[in-house]
Amino acid sequence: MDRLIINGGISLEGEIRIAGAKNSALPIMAATLLTHETVQICNLPHLYDITTMLELLGCMGVQPIVDEKLNVEINSSSIDHFSAPYELVKTMRASILVLGPLLTRYGKAEVALPGGCAIGSRPVNLHISALEAMGADIVVEDGYIKASVDGKLKGANIFMDLVTVTGTENVMMAASLARGQTVIENAAREPEVVDLANCLVKMGADIKGQGTDTIVINGVEALAGCSYSVMPDRIETGTYLIAAAATRGYIKVKDTRPDILESVLSKLEQAGAQINVGANWIELDMQGKRPRAVSLRTAPYPAFPTDMQAQFTALNSVADGTGSITETVFENRFMHVHEMNRMGASIRVEGNTVIVDGVDTLKGAPVMATDLRASASLIIAGLVSDSETSVDRIYHIDRGYECIEEKLQLLGARIRRVPS
Ligand code: UD1
Repeated sequence: MDRLIINGGISLEGEIRIAGAKNSALPIMAATLLTHETVQICNLPHLYDITTMLELLGCMGVQPIVDEKLNVEINSSSIDHFSAPYELVKTMRASILVLGPLLTRYGKAEVALPGGCAIGSRPVNLHISALEAMGADIVVEDGYIKASVDGKLKGANIFMDLVTVTGTENVMMAASLARGQTVIENAAREPEVVDLANCLVKMGADIKGQGTDTIVINGVEALAGCSYSVMPDRIETGTYLIAAAATRGYIKVKDTRPDILESVLSKLEQAGAQINVGANWIELDMQGKRPRAVSLRTAPYPAFPTDMQAQFTALNSVADGTGSITETVFENRFMHVHEMNRMGASIRVEGNTVIVDGVDTLKGAPVMATDLRASASLIIAGLVSDSETSVDRIYHIDRGYECIEEKLQLLGARIRRVPS
């Protein structure tokens, strides 16, 4: 298992390019199951989760083709298995995204029940009840969600009790081939949901209201192939901006979208960063100053994203003052706190809030990554520490960050990967 060794204490400085968004690439790949025609997906990030989704499609009998520009062409007409096995679902919960497409197009699907994970129990009850409301028969047995429908799914009015990103995506995909109209209320407004909707519309779906909390889908007979380019990754963007801010540095991130990062950019400005934006780039300059502590509360988009919470905890750990961070989306997303305290941070957990008293500097230590975004926060903590940090279990980071050590090296960081 590889480790990352970081020799911190250097201000990051330079320019990097942002990859395609993992969380919109995964549902778009699942959406290829909705048509027998070829869908070409461009700007796919090179990530372990993308490989897992390709593997999942592969084990259903679909053979994706990667072209010379690393675009992927997927034609699902050779599908002969309608099941997502536990071995893949346990490594990537987003495998649940094949449930809606399989069910609506082939009338049957079996997807292993995702178990709990490091950031909480993360049930999928809302996916199941919405598909049942559309006429699906679903039983959960032997650790699998076994779904079938007699004929076609039918449109329904669905109120989501909680805002769920993959839940909204699953229902939107299922509804695009259902009979009649589906209305999803309290839908997720995340930009990745909009990106998926835009791809489905390009495939011929009739979807309106994406980006608002009410999405209306009129089912169509069939969807067609298309070529679609995945939007930039806002979480990768934010992570590098925070890394630069925490190290009192300067960064320009290119091939990104400032318009979908407003809550994050405003917190970085509160932390003392000077920010300039263009249509597809963001520049952040700390002018060598120590960041100021900020307080924030995570919530569904457009509020502050839970996927950026751990990284801001790292920033606050070396900031001037005390900041409090409240997590409202997942119930157990503070696994990084203990590791940061081992590096000399002063953080205490009170219910679903962490109170961070900024210290002058952190001390390098061997630490262990527990989930994807927690891993990113430990790397930021390593970058601001005054000695060597080793981050273990970095397979988590490879799930969601493309070439992280190369990109950080471009910014001047002393970071290297070593096999353990
Ligand atoms: C997606 C993102 C993940 C992000 C999260 C919240 C992908 C592939 N992953 O995950 O990076 O952290 O959104 O922005 O896009 N819930 C239920 N029942 C359900 C579904 C969800 O109780 O059926 C709860 C969850 O436990 C959680 C909350 O709803 O507390 C939000 O989860 P959800 O938006 O579904 O997260 P994911 O879609 O799994």
